[in-house]
Amino acid sequence: MGKKTFYITTPIYYPSDKLHIGHSYTTVAADALARFKRLTGYDVFFLTGTDEHGQKIQRKAEEHGKTPKEYVDEIVAWIKQLWKTLDVSYDKFIRTTDDYHVKAVQNIFQKLYDQGDIYKGTYEGWYCTPCETFFTEHQLVAGKCPDCGRPVELIKEEAYFFRLSKYQNKMIEYIESHPDFIQPPSRRNEMINNFLKPGLEDLCVSRTSFDWGIPVPFDEKHVVYVWIDALSNYITALGYSLENDELYKRYWPADVHLVGKEIVRFHTIIWPIMLMALGLPLPKKVFGHGWLILEGGKMSKSKGNVVDPRALVDLYGVDAVRYFLLREIPFGADGVFSNKALVDRINFDLANDLGNLLSRTVTMIEKYSDGKIPDPGIDDAIDNELKAMAEALPAKVEKLMDGLEFSGALQEIWKFIGCANKYIDKTMPWVLARDASKKERLSTVLYNLSEALRIISVHISPFMPNTPAKIREQLGIADENLVTWESVKTWGILPAGLPVSRKEIIFPRIESSEPVESESADGKTKTDAGSCKSIGETGKSAVEALAKADKETGKAEQEDGANLISIDEFAKVQLRVAEVLEAEKVPNTDKLLKLRIRIGEEIRQIVAGIAKHYAPEQMVGKKIVVVANLKPAKLRGIESQGMLLAASNEEKLTLLTVDKDIESGARIK
Ligand code: MSP
Repeated sequence: MGKKTFYITTPIYYPSDKLHIGHSYTTVAADALARFKRLTGYDVFFLTGTDEHGQKIQRKAEEHGKTPKEYVDEIVAWIKQLWKTLDVSYDKFIRTTDDYHVKAVQNIFQKLYDQGDIYKGTYEGWYCTPCETFFTEHQLVAGKCPDCGRPVELIKEEAYFFRLSKYQNKMIEYIESHPDFIQPPSRRNEMINNFLKPGLEDLCVSRTSFDWGIPVPFDEKHVVYVWIDALSNYITALGYSLENDELYKRYWPADVHLVGKEIVRFHTIIWPIMLMALGLPLPKKVFGHGWLILEGGKMSKSKGNVVDPRALVDLYGVDAVRYFLLREIPFGADGVFSNKALVDRINFDLANDLGNLLSRTVTMIEKYSDGKIPDPGIDDAIDNELKAMAEALPAKVEKLMDGLEFSGALQEIWKFIGCANKYIDKTMPWVLARDASKKERLSTVLYNLSEALRIISVHISPFMPNTPAKIREQLGIADENLVTWESVKTWGILPAGLPVSRKEIIFPRIESSEPVESESADGKTKTDAGSCKSIGETGKSAVEALAKADKETGKAEQEDGANLISIDEFAKVQLRVAEVLEAEKVPNTDKLLKLRIRIGEEIRQIVAGIAKHYAPEQMVGKKIVVVANLKPAKLRGIESQGMLLAASNEEKLTLLTVDKDIESGARIK
């Protein structure tokens, strides 16, 4: 039997301008899912492309003194390069100016006309050119486009119409009897209540006032409405109605169309009705994701608040940018993009959690096991949590990925990474190493950590295509059979004896958070200082939330006395309980100790000027108080990621600790 197929698509993008990080969000998500499905054994077809016709593109080209084709060719080349930069593994890139697509769209239009689903009339109404959408008078909001708020144009022209109204009831029935068809469920209710139930009008599907489009085959002064042209791409790319329709037979219906929330309507009403009229099966799922927002609302070139994804990749690397996009915001919701949030994710999740786990493991194997992954020796009950979590992880991640919960899947993987880090703290290999009788136990601990990293490297591969190879290289894993999806379902298949080798740090910490430069409509740049938070679909706009926070801080400042600080100012200092895991003297100084500490799930290194008062052995196991949100600084070339608190006078120094035991990470308020 052949493999099960999986067909996934992104929207096809308008090459009217260069794409921004919001567009990249959809494509990176689609890529992660495509890679995950390939990893888990599916025969995947991943389609993306460009939507090149229509009045918007024609006008844009005119503004630049170019023909539409010359204009789009340049941007399409740029877009393809962007997908390369972001490691997007599409199987096909369709351009709606491709000959085969033009032919197939004409076939579709002709068939619908021949069977009486398309008829001739006159269109009189409003049109939003940036959205390429028709609106009736009562749909406008304050006389403007209800989707983008820009001015609309009144048009009156002879046109062809598609009988959407004929299929209205069939469409409602279909959506109601297929609860998975529109996701997330809130979007399903919106489609039924706001668009279908009030009644569908027949759709204008041709234009005559410009010519940059696919000619209607039986009436060449008309061009096909750009959305009919664009939506058809999902089947024309597979050869529908053409001589070679092998791909169509193999992959249609699509398993999932990923689209932004503002175009769910086109994909769950117009597109399925086109398919019904053609007598074709409907896609299994349309998922409407939320938007990445910057101050000023949804990113868009005309608002002047776009972020160039290439600049982010140059600064932080492709895997970090992909991780951030998929981890930060639950896929259905809107979320604010900020540079600070991205840097925090890199420093905490990637550098501290994942990067440290790898470097600690490899360093210990080099130091305590001659640089070779040891044979496991003696098990202990402590190992069970790690093993059980590893064995449960593939099924959990698979379920979350099937629901397109990218952030949830990454959270599960990071819980496991956290568990492996904790396992180091609990087993304390550096203590085992001091006692020859614990050699076998030490071997088991080091083996288990390597095995955990093997499993992690496979799980992160759909999200971060480059990091797994770096992890495997350091662990000496070259055999492909050790990194299949099947292989991660069994604990303990990593062979002993593989040579480890410490290489450069996989995610260096970012010292300072450089502001993102966002490009405005006039080509100037401005900086982003917002913070990032995920906002619910029904919640206030993120922009409102940010504005409110700013106002509140301002108010508090005005109320300050001269030398007093407000509670808000104090709250900026994050004091946390930390546990000291390791301590050593910094060479060539008699003042500094380097400490490895744990703050909750997180491991950090700090350098403290306490060596004259505390010996390293006295420090291990102590619960101390640290300032956790201090900018990292270097002392004698060693990075200190925080500061411990101590009371001192001229002779004495004593550490601040907690009166009763409390878990590390606890906040001090
Ligand atoms: N050409 C149409 C789609 C036709 S599909 C048959 C189109 N193109 S677009 O270039 O304007 O947008 C493409 C996709 O990018 C849409 O799904 C849109 O929601 C998404 N995004 C554009 N800006 C976005 C954000 N700021 N955030 C998240 N996604 C965003 O619509």
